[in-house]
Amino acid sequence: MERDISIFSFSVEQEMVDVEKHVSFSSSRCFIQGTVFGTRFNSSSIVSKCTKSSFDGQVVVKNDRINRKVFFLRNSSKFSSPLAMTVEHQNAANTKSSVDVADIGLIGLAVMGQNLALNMAEKGFRVSVYNRTSSKTQDTLQRYQQEQSHFFGQLEGFYSIESFVRSLKRPRKVVIMVKAGSPVDSTITSLEKYLEPGDLIIDGGNEWYENTQRRSEALASKGILYMGMGVSGGEEGARHGPSLMPGGPLEAWNLMKDILSKIAAQVDDGPCVTYIGPGGSGNYVKMVHNGIEYADMQLIGEVYDILRNLSSNNTDNDKLYEIFERWNRGDLQSFLIEITSHILKVKDKDTLLIDKVLDQSGSKGTGMWTIQEAAKRGIPVSTISAALDARYLSSFKDLRVVLCNRLQGTGHTERNTVVSSYGWNDREFLASELEKALYAAKICCYAQGMALIQKASYDEEWKLDCGEIARIWKGGCIIRAKFLDRIKEAYKRQPNLRSLLEDEHFIADLNKCQLSLRRVVSGASLLGIPVPALASALSYYDSFRQEILSSSQLIQAQRDYFGAHTYKRLDKEGVFHSKWL
Ligand code: ATR
Repeated sequence: MERDISIFSFSVEQEMVDVEKHVSFSSSRCFIQGTVFGTRFNSSSIVSKCTKSSFDGQVVVKNDRINRKVFFLRNSSKFSSPLAMTVEHQNAANTKSSVDVADIGLIGLAVMGQNLALNMAEKGFRVSVYNRTSSKTQDTLQRYQQEQSHFFGQLEGFYSIESFVRSLKRPRKVVIMVKAGSPVDSTITSLEKYLEPGDLIIDGGNEWYENTQRRSEALASKGILYMGMGVSGGEEGARHGPSLMPGGPLEAWNLMKDILSKIAAQVDDGPCVTYIGPGGSGNYVKMVHNGIEYADMQLIGEVYDILRNLSSNNTDNDKLYEIFERWNRGDLQSFLIEITSHILKVKDKDTLLIDKVLDQSGSKGTGMWTIQEAAKRGIPVSTISAALDARYLSSFKDLRVVLCNRLQGTGHTERNTVVSSYGWNDREFLASELEKALYAAKICCYAQGMALIQKASYDEEWKLDCGEIARIWKGGCIIRAKFLDRIKEAYKRQPNLRSLLEDEHFIADLNKCQLSLRRVVSGASLLGIPVPALASALSYYDSFRQEILSSSQLIQAQRDYFGAHTYKRLDKEGVFHSKWL
C-alpha cells in the first residue's frame, strides 16, 4: 500500500490550492504534509492519510502547537474535474507560538529580501517574513527547509500583515525590502496600523533619501521609529554578509545594532556596518557608493577595452584574465577586478563569452541621482558623470553601427606607430602602465564620491565619518577593495581632509602614477579608443593642480561682458565690472 503514495506539501495559510497539480490520483493513498506558519511538521504529527473518497470531507490537522481544519473540495462527482483544497485556519493570535516571538520581521521576499531573511535566521535570529504575493513566501520557506542544517535561528512565513506583526517581539523591528518609491509607502500604510509607539521600520531598498526623511517625520508623529538603510553586496552579500549603511534616529540604531552587526560582512576591523548618521544619510551614502561603483566599473571597462583592442591574436585575448588576476594581488585588489578575471575566462564554444555580450549597459537610477545631487551641491564628480554618460551612450547601438563606418579614426599605419612609440608592443609594460593609470584614476573617482558625501554631511548637518564609511565598504559590497583601507587611514590621519587628493599618501601614489595615466589617456585617444572616465579623472587631477585656472578667468570675463555678472580680482578685494569693448 505504502508504495503508491503522492506527497503534497502545502502551506496551511494558503487559501486555495489546486490539488490536481500536486497529487497523482492514480495513487491509492495520498499523504498530506503541511507547513504551518513556517514550521514544518514531522510526519507523525501532521500527516493525514486520505484515500480518494475522503477528499470530499475534511481532515483535521493537529499537533501540540496548532489545530487546523483542512477541507478538500470536489466540484464534481467525477475525478476528472478540477479539485481544490481550502484551508480554514484559526487566527494566528490563537497560536501561542506565533505571538511576540520573533526578533525581527522582513517584508519583501524578492532576491535581496529573501537572502537577507535567510542570513538573519542563519545568524541565530528568529525571523518572521511576509510578501505581498504569497508564492514568494512559500519559495523562501522552501529554501529555508532545504538549507535548514546551517541555521540555528528560525524563519516563519506569514500570509497576513496582522499575523506577521503580532509574531514580533516588542519593540517590533520590521525591515522592508520592497521596490523603492510608492511600494514602500503602501507597505508602510498597511503596516503602521498594527504597530505601536517605539516600534521600528527599516527600509533596506535603494530609496531616494528625501523620501526616507519624509516618512521618518510622518512616522515620528506616531512614535514609530524609521530608518533608511543602504544594503550593498547583491544577492551573495545579502545572504552571507552585506555592507550595511543604516541612517536615522540613533535610538533606532541602538535597537538594531546587534542584529545588523551579526548579519553584516566581517572584516579585519569589525563588521561592515556602522551608524551612518541621522535623516536619510544611510540612503545618501548608499547612493554615492553606487555612483562610485559606476565609475569604478567604467574605469575597469576602459582599460579592458585598451587591452582587448591591442590583443593581436586569440591567444593574447584568452589570457587577458591573467592580467586581472595579477592586478588583484596588488594595489588594485578588489571584488570588481576579481570578477573581471573570472568573466574573462568563460568560453562560449571556441570564443570568450564576453565577446558575445550585447554592448549596451543599463542603469537603475542611483548613478543618475548621484550626478543630480552633485550638481545641486556644486561638487565635481566628473568621473562618475562620465561613467553614467558612457552607459547612456552605449544604448545608442543603431547609431553607433551606422557611424562606425562614416566617422574617421586612426589608420593602420598610424596605429602601429602609436603602439610602438608608447612601447605597448610589450604586453608586460602595457599591463603595468594600465595598472598605474587605473589606480590613479580610482583615487580621483573616490575623491569625488567622498567630497560629495562630505558636502552633503555639511549641508544637512549629518556629521558623517568618512573614515568609518570607507571601513564598512571594505567587505560585503560591490566596491570592496584593499584600497578602502588607505582611505580609512587617510581620514584617521586627518579627519577634516577636504579632499583625498590632499592626503600625503595619496599624493605620493598620484605622483608615482600620473605619468602612466597621461600616457594611457593620450595613447588611447590617438588609437581612437574611448576612455571618458580615465580622461575625466586625469582632467580632475590636472584641474586641482592649477594654481590659476585660465579657463575660469576667461569665463568670468565673458560673463561680465555679456551679462554684467561682475567679477573678482586676484590683485585686490572687491567686486568689479568692466567695459570690455
Ligand atoms: P529585488 O531588487 O530584490 O529583486 P525589488 O524589485 O526591489 O527586489 O522589489 C521587489 C519586491 O517589492 C517584491 O517583494 C514585490 O512584491 P511582489 O512579490 O508581490 O511583487 C515588492 N513590491 C513591489 N511593489 C509592491 C507594492 N506596491 N506593494 C508591496 N510590495 C511591493
